[in-house]
Amino acid sequence: MPAERLCAFGPGRVNLIGEHTDYNGGLALPFAIAEGVTVQAEASTTHSPLGDVIEAYACDLDESDDFLLADPRPAEGWRAFVRGVVAELGRAGYPLRGANLQIRGEVPQGSGLSSSAALEVALCLALAALGGDGKEGVGGVLDRMEIAQLCSRVENDWVGAHTGLLDQLASLYGAPDTALCIDFSTLDIEPVPLLLDGWRLVILDSGEVHAHASSGYNERRSECAKACELLGVDSLRQASPAAVAQLPEPLQKRASHVLGENDRVREAVAALRSSDFPTLGGLLDASHESLRDRYQISTPAVEATVQRLHRAGASGARLVGGGFGGGVLGLFAPDVPPPPDTLEVRPGPGAHLIEG
Ligand code: GLA
Repeated sequence: MPAERLCAFGPGRVNLIGEHTDYNGGLALPFAIAEGVTVQAEASTTHSPLGDVIEAYACDLDESDDFLLADPRPAEGWRAFVRGVVAELGRAGYPLRGANLQIRGEVPQGSGLSSSAALEVALCLALAALGGDGKEGVGGVLDRMEIAQLCSRVENDWVGAHTGLLDQLASLYGAPDTALCIDFSTLDIEPVPLLLDGWRLVILDSGEVHAHASSGYNERRSECAKACELLGVDSLRQASPAAVAQLPEPLQKRASHVLGENDRVREAVAALRSSDFPTLGGLLDASHESLRDRYQISTPAVEATVQRLHRAGASGARLVGGGFGGGVLGLFAPDVPPPPDTLEVRPGPGAHLIEG
């Protein structure tokens, strides 16, 4: 039975560690958070002579968009995500219907918590279920790995951000009390218990909004591709430290960040498995130093934010997400209160349909 009205939720994510490794066939350790994007979808009663229509309303921005279901054209900003998702779902053979979409988000844009993946994933779940049998997709309407790849095409081809699969996989596969150790060379996802036991993970906004399409993100990605070309490998996962040491700068710095970050993910998994949070804190600091000095994606505002967290007693702090602004993650011991203007984050459920 098709549903006439339903609601889907896509969570944002925090990447505990493993930054800029996803498009390098490396390792990362993200988790889905409670904050995300909700899309309410209602089968449309509007029929244009040219065919079914998608009408979308971004409640937080008080902006709307409408376009023909059969002919989504490129657009800017949030509209690019909606049109891209409709186009890519259609191309992948998902049955779609004309719909009214109401979009509400709780993840601040440009915060490094992946408001974009939350939006793409919620849109996919809502539109696929509305066009299908109205049911949650796993095993039925929706293959989560396929949806992650489809969302990544939306980012790459419709939004112009050459991002990897980290955010979409975290949003789709997240679970309470769980971080996901993702191996991007095989796309294996290993759940790792993230039981904080009084420790707190918080995000402090640097006040600087980042945008992947316009920041240095795409440039970093092409530097890694260039490093692979010079090394004769398909991805930096196959590069040895000795070979990386022969690369010209800045490629040597970029590639050595990626190799070191993969090792830190392995060490972080071991630390979580033994509830060794002080060691995790040291790894967060080491990751940040590498992102600042080797990957060179920090900014003065991000540095000031990291220092503020350390002054407040954080056991570790690092920028999260693409860099060039956004939020900073801090780890606090049970007896150390984080600054009041931080957002506490915890591992929550992955994307799902909700009543409504
Ligand atoms: C952004 C991208 C991800 C990933 C991170 C950096 O969040 O969307 O694919 O590359 O940056 O780790």
